[in-house]
Amino acid sequence: MQDTTASRTSPGAPSRASGPLSLLVLGGTRFVGRALVEAALAAGHRVTLFNRGRTAPGLFPAATGVETVLGDRTADLSALAGRRWDAVVDVAGYHPEVVRRAVDALGARTGRYVFVSSLSVLADQATVQDEDGQLLSLDGDLAPHQLYGARKAACERVVLDGFGERADVVRPGLIVGPYDPTDRFAYWPRRFRRGGRVLLPGDPADPAQFIDVRDLAQWILGCAAGRRGGVYHVTGRPLPFGAFFAACRALVNPAAEPVWVGTEALLRAGAEPWMGVPMWIGAPECAAVNLVDTSRALAAGLALRPLAGTLADTLAWDTARGGPAPGEEGLTAAAERRLLAATA
Ligand SMILES: NC(=O)c1ccc[n+]([C@@H]2O[C@H](COP(=O)([O-])OP(=O)(O)OC[C@H]3O[C@@H](n4cnc5c(N)ncnc54)[C@H](OP(=O)(O)O)[C@@H]3O)[C@@H](O)[C@H]2O)c1
Repeated sequence: MQDTTASRTSPGAPSRASGPLSLLVLGGTRFVGRALVEAALAAGHRVTLFNRGRTAPGLFPAATGVETVLGDRTADLSALAGRRWDAVVDVAGYHPEVVRRAVDALGARTGRYVFVSSLSVLADQATVQDEDGQLLSLDGDLAPHQLYGARKAACERVVLDGFGERADVVRPGLIVGPYDPTDRFAYWPRRFRRGGRVLLPGDPADPAQFIDVRDLAQWILGCAAGRRGGVYHVTGRPLPFGAFFAACRALVNPAAEPVWVGTEALLRAGAEPWMGVPMWIGAPECAAVNLVDTSRALAAGLALRPLAGTLADTLAWDTARGGPAPGEEGLTAAAERRLLAATA
């Protein structure tokens, strides 16, 4: 049920949080933005996209009711001049100077600024963190893999400073579901369907944590409607890898044979932490990366769909597209065979 008592904090803010919104989506055509646009259209909102027209051009033709304004946000936002929106959703901002350009251009003409950040902003990935956990800083001593999170943290600051109470910072963890370009999640139902000996990484008790992109999209829409405000960790509840793989097996292929290979053995066999096996972490300093505290978002109404639906829909999408392109598989059959042989 929608909350119609949301505060009105700016002339540009939505006048009726329960009615249709005018939304400007910076991006909108790859994965998160795509799900957001679909959810916004289904909810009856008016959507304007701003992008370069390179990613999935024609995905939302004018007949869908979506207006597309072309431009490169790193260089020129003048195509948006003079327009007003209830909310802007900045789906894919990665650099503080680029986000600042949008904040400066839209601050006086937009009710809310919803920034899609990342849990990678957290400096400590070894212990469980909530929204008040320390963030990475671009001034700090950063490992290469921390640069993305430090930049995202700097982007958050730009948005919070520029929009104050009209800012929403959404920090997702691993995002999964249809149109995920990474093959981290879709790999698993596809792999179970193939059957045989399936390499499962780590320990059955290791935590996994992720959110269906469509649940994330609904959360973002709630932000755009003025029902949240501030910073939220927006991901699923941790569940043991054992339970995740059991769900894959039960849903897709109960005859598949699970072969657990521990983290130490995988590392000794040369598997690369994070990327070596889909969704496996393999980095002890990141032991809590899948244990992030989401109680604030859950208390504020974060709705999470059952895992079986996410698995089934992702597999259906993956099957319809014919699987990932060569070179984009989460793990090739040959690489899995090598790891199984090396750790036998
Ligand atoms: N995947 C995960 O597990 C995960 C986890 C945590 C956080 N996140 C965050 O989630 C977001 C995912 O983004 P997404 O790629 O799915 O978003 P998206 O909005 O679906 O796609 C990216 C959009 O940005 C546009 N774009 C790229 N460069 C541009 C430019 N210079 N000027 C204007 N538009 C430009 C692209 O269109 P054109 O190319 O046509 O310009 C495309 O429409 C990111 O913020 C990421 O940090 C992801």
